[in-house]
Amino acid sequence: MPDPMRPPVSDHRTTQPRPRASLRTAVVWEVLQDALDRRTKATGRDALDILDTGGGSGNFAVPLAGLGHRVTVVDPSPNALFALERRAAEAGVADRVKGVQGDAHGLFDVAERGGYDVVLCHGVLEYVDDPAEGIRNAVAALRPEGVLSLLAAGLGGAVLARALAGHFKEAGQALRDPDGRWGSGDPVPRRFTADQLTALVEGAGLRVGAVHGVRVFADLVPGVLVDTEPGALDALLELEAAAAELPAFHSVATQLHVLGETPGAGEA
Ligand SMILES: C[S@@+](CC[C@H](N)C(=O)[O-])C[C@H]1O[C@@H](n2cnc3c(N)ncnc32)[C@H](O)[C@@H]1O
Repeated sequence: MPDPMRPPVSDHRTTQPRPRASLRTAVVWEVLQDALDRRTKATGRDALDILDTGGGSGNFAVPLAGLGHRVTVVDPSPNALFALERRAAEAGVADRVKGVQGDAHGLFDVAERGGYDVVLCHGVLEYVDDPAEGIRNAVAALRPEGVLSLLAAGLGGAVLARALAGHFKEAGQALRDPDGRWGSGDPVPRRFTADQLTALVEGAGLRVGAVHGVRVFADLVPGVLVDTEPGALDALLELEAAAAELPAFHSVATQLHVLGETPGAGEA
């Protein structure tokens, strides 16, 4: 039985079968875990203090606590926080996960300024009123040597997905829309290019450590192919990992991940 507390990245480093869900998260976990490893070495502490802004029901927070870190989740949704509490308890990490109701704009009403080694901002910038302020607050929550993990919806990935589904007008609309939305039925309020995200991170005073494209192919290939072809999932995961690093593929990725480092942290 795979240990449910192991984050998906572990599947790359063990012989355990990789769950299909790892296609959505493998690249981010790989980058994040390397950043955590560097921070634990640099600080000499095994347990880091992590803030997960808009952390929801704990997709990242609970596995991070499973690695021994202390995670504070700030999220405006009481339902998400309730689910987080339950998941953390089921995983046996309730003592290392704290959920607090709040949002990215009023972050310091509930979280400590300058109090965290790592801040996650995953899938949140799309929804906040002011992305620049959201990022500035996330950065202000970092210790002088800290790391920001930013994940947000990519503009080009949405255009490509609409076009390949035959929704050409919606694809064109997303391409022209300043927020990258394909129409009034689009559930995502805002999407970003890699340049926009790196500008936000640098504008908040961080150095960009790395940019990765996430889900370059995963959302475009028929699921049946991945599920039935022997070895297809592993091969696709390897392809995603290779493409993630190449700037040419960033413009068509479903999501973009930017690792930001405070000037001191990058030297560790
Ligand atoms: C797509 S979910 C991402 C959840 C989690 N970060 C993950 O990666 O699985 C977006 C989350 O952002 C939260 N959210 C929405 N507006 C927010 C805001 N202004 N500040 C902080 N979180 C917000 C939602 O409640 C939701 O939990």
